[in-house]
Amino acid sequence: KLYPLRPNSAGRELGHRPHLAELSEAIEQFRGPYEPLPALINAEAYRHEGALHPIRNPASTEKPIGEWRVSGTAVVDHAMSVAHDAFPKWNARPVEERGQLLRDFADRMEAQLPYLVSIIAHEAGRTVDDGIAEVREAVDFCRYYAQRAEELMVDQEMPGPVGELNMYHLEGRGVWAAISPWNFPLAIFVGQIAAAVATGNTVVAKPAPQTPYIAWRVIEMWHEVGLPAGVVNLVLGAGETGQAMINHPALAGVVFTGSVPTAKAINRALAEREGPIVPLIAETGGINAMIVDSTALPEQVADDVVGSAFRSAGQRCSALRILYVQEDVADHMLEMIQGAAEALKIGPPKDLSVDMGPVIDTDAVERLDAHWNEISAKGKVRYKGQAPEGGTFFAPRIVELENFRDLQSEAFGPILHVCRWKPSQLDEVIASIHETGFGLTFGIHSRLESRQRQLAAAAPTGNVYINRNMVGAIVGVQPFGGRGLSGTGPKAGGPLYLTRFCEEKHVCENT
Ligand code: SER
Repeated sequence: KLYPLRPNSAGRELGHRPHLAELSEAIEQFRGPYEPLPALINAEAYRHEGALHPIRNPASTEKPIGEWRVSGTAVVDHAMSVAHDAFPKWNARPVEERGQLLRDFADRMEAQLPYLVSIIAHEAGRTVDDGIAEVREAVDFCRYYAQRAEELMVDQEMPGPVGELNMYHLEGRGVWAAISPWNFPLAIFVGQIAAAVATGNTVVAKPAPQTPYIAWRVIEMWHEVGLPAGVVNLVLGAGETGQAMINHPALAGVVFTGSVPTAKAINRALAEREGPIVPLIAETGGINAMIVDSTALPEQVADDVVGSAFRSAGQRCSALRILYVQEDVADHMLEMIQGAAEALKIGPPKDLSVDMGPVIDTDAVERLDAHWNEISAKGKVRYKGQAPEGGTFFAPRIVELENFRDLQSEAFGPILHVCRWKPSQLDEVIASIHETGFGLTFGIHSRLESRQRQLAAAAPTGNVYINRNMVGAIVGVQPFGGRGLSGTGPKAGGPLYLTRFCEEKHVCENT
């Protein structure tokens, strides 16, 4: 069966003034939730007790934009059993019907783009262009997984001995816990859930405690276009809420994006729980490197380094953390990179002129400051930008390190580390990248084809980018995800992602 080609979401034509006006207006008119957000179970706000927490706008020190309520164990248990009850019927629905509900949801999000951008600008400090890219990515995940599920979830006859009928198919596993981060509070949140429900699973999702509102609003939208009650449920909280999800006997799988320590804690909790062995899909971070040689184009390098290290305030798991630049051209390249960093406009995300928003919260600022104090003592400070007042802003910083192995941890923000290399040291550079144990993204800037090939083959990472920036993977075009400490795979937005959400079944009949 042939399916129509699936184009990626086009977003908005930003040369068109009314589109820009619509975005600015949506951002200006944003209002937070009127009431504290509770859990959302069975397509309804579920009234329950639990501690209240503020939802803050990281770009502002004004009062919080709303509140949310922690889902305790009893609330999580209820959500898990509702999802468990909804599973058989959802799993039995034809894959095309599930796909249609994903496509309707995608269309709805695309139509509501300015509104969704306004929420993530206020709740997560996402700039307008990051916000638009994120809506597009969420839309793409829904359409791509709808199509992949339709391609994968067909009955296959496996030719065998005469007198036997051998049939094989994929089906949903049951209830998935989807635990998502604040740095892509819409795209990753939606992507995890879309993959699970496209393949017949039901979901209890827990967004990051910093970004519950966007999660709430899009799940409401999905119900408005016909998602049956109980298929996707939302609980709010941090580690304890997550632990209750994992402890529940109905759990059939966990999909997680976040830090390495949390991924390991989930893995341990899964190993220790009673009941069946369930799969974990984990996507974490990286100490992502880029190698620049003396044949690279300096203007392009400056642009791509700044885009990869500082856009989204460096808060992407794919972001560039350590730049290895060939000694002969290092001074010139660093000057250009500094110039491009200085030109970035940092501030509250209100229109397209803002290049960089805040980091997520005061804890993030403290962690970055602590990292900076330690690492800058080991090296030479090349650049320290000036952060604006009034929110959790952290301006770009660049530090040059002597030793290839000085950077041993991921600093999740706009800090770029730089090392110089001589051609005789290239093997050592590659060895030091391998030794981090991470394996997410890797960048190469070189006009030598042989070097491009050599480095791409040697990179221990899931994604390699040559002569471009190294962020912003496109669904269905650049399947995204890493290895080692960076994650388990399969790659999000890739052809194999859905298979991990499925059980396989084979029926052999003596005819
Ligand atoms: N998918 C995102 C990117 O490619 C990762 O955070 O930048």
